[in-house]
Amino acid sequence: ADTLQTLPGSYLGPVIRLRRGQQVRIRFANQLAEDSIVHWHGLDVPEKADGHPRLAIGHGEEYVYDFEVTNRAGTYWYHPHPHMRTAPHVYQGLAGLVLVGDPEEDALKLPSGDAELLCVFQDRRFDTRNQFVYQGGGMMEMMNGFLGDRVLVSGAVQPTREVDAAWHRVRLLNGSNARIYKLAWSQDVSMTVIGGDGGLLERPLLRRTLTLAPGQRADVLVDLTKIAPGTEVHLDSLGFSESDTGRVGMMGNTAPVPSGAPLRAMTLRTRARAGGAFKVPERLSAFDSTWARRADAKVRRVPLLFRQMQWSLGGRTFSMDMEDVAEEETVLRGSTHVWEFANQPNGMGMEMAHPMHIHGRQFRVLERTGGRATNALREGIVDAGWTDTVLVLPGETVLVQVTFTSHPGLYLYHCHILEHEDMGMMRNFRVT
Ligand code: C2O
Ligand code: CU
Ligand code: CU
Repeated sequence: ADTLQTLPGSYLGPVIRLRRGQQVRIRFANQLAEDSIVHWHGLDVPEKADGHPRLAIGHGEEYVYDFEVTNRAGTYWYHPHPHMRTAPHVYQGLAGLVLVGDPEEDALKLPSGDAELLCVFQDRRFDTRNQFVYQGGGMMEMMNGFLGDRVLVSGAVQPTREVDAAWHRVRLLNGSNARIYKLAWSQDVSMTVIGGDGGLLERPLLRRTLTLAPGQRADVLVDLTKIAPGTEVHLDSLGFSESDTGRVGMMGNTAPVPSGAPLRAMTLRTRARAGGAFKVPERLSAFDSTWARRADAKVRRVPLLFRQMQWSLGGRTFSMDMEDVAEEETVLRGSTHVWEFANQPNGMGMEMAHPMHIHGRQFRVLERTGGRATNALREGIVDAGWTDTVLVLPGETVLVQVTFTSHPGLYLYHCHILEHEDMGMMRNFRVT
């Protein structure tokens, strides 16, 4: 009965609450006029449940997902993954949160109920009848990613929420096609980051800003106990330079609100102080530290390249037959590799930040080198903890260590700027 929760007034799909160890069956009925398939972003599921584009079903057909939730507690999400059509499907509203719980998280007694806020950030453009406008299919928009001119939070434009002057747990998802946010609270309210894509961190991290790229999630605690009742606390995306995320083309991105423009996301208005003392646990999770850097891991370089008006992964793009796998993209199930995402400038000043996502298992960020020290997005990046999407800024090389899923089959890795994904900045890897 508590499994599905609809966000009031929102176009988003229901929030699906699951428990670790649970067996799940989901029936996806495609009533669209075109093919689609749903992917469970961040969940480690068998090939047949992963939503690979070659599994897309047509209008009137049904696809049944059957899997066990093996992921630990955390904030995950779902969205369609059809070949070359992911961006428009997500933009039109097909996405939702998957919240997994487990005993380790229960024991922390984190703020819940009204004190848990679910915030999905998506930027959109509107027509005069207030309908979503998607024009992401043009050449410049595909190369730069399509940016909206207003941010919606869980389906509402600049919502204001009445909240108790108490501790809150805020779960954030950047469900935007292409926009990167640099989030910060007003009133000097800081963020205590307790989790990322793959669940709780070992220890909380205190941050003033949080950089959230498409596909990424964050779990933060916010202390409103010292805020006087009646005060408005804003959550904003702070301004940064367009060059911090980069762009393609001499004239730059033609978006009316360019990347880096300051944006107000939402407002919390405090009412009376509520009782119930809460103290941030010093240690959140034992699981977070159950890994080690593996000296014997096979290292593979994945250059993120722009050539001939096309983004690619080492010069390769997603093939039309959807099944192409190179030898270096074939891995043994459960084996551990290091992939180096190398965001190389192409010499003509065409560079962009790419959030790189790997299906299946959560991975660790080992190292981040290169790039510009002055990049304003840097301070908000959290590389601690388990993650499934890592932001690689212009000029950076980011090393990740991934232990691949133990399910054999064809999986994907790609840039999570959805227009880049659709134009082929995506590849298969085969788990054998
Ligand atoms: Cu969220 Cu392959 O995607
Ligand atoms: Cu995914
Ligand atoms: Cu990209």
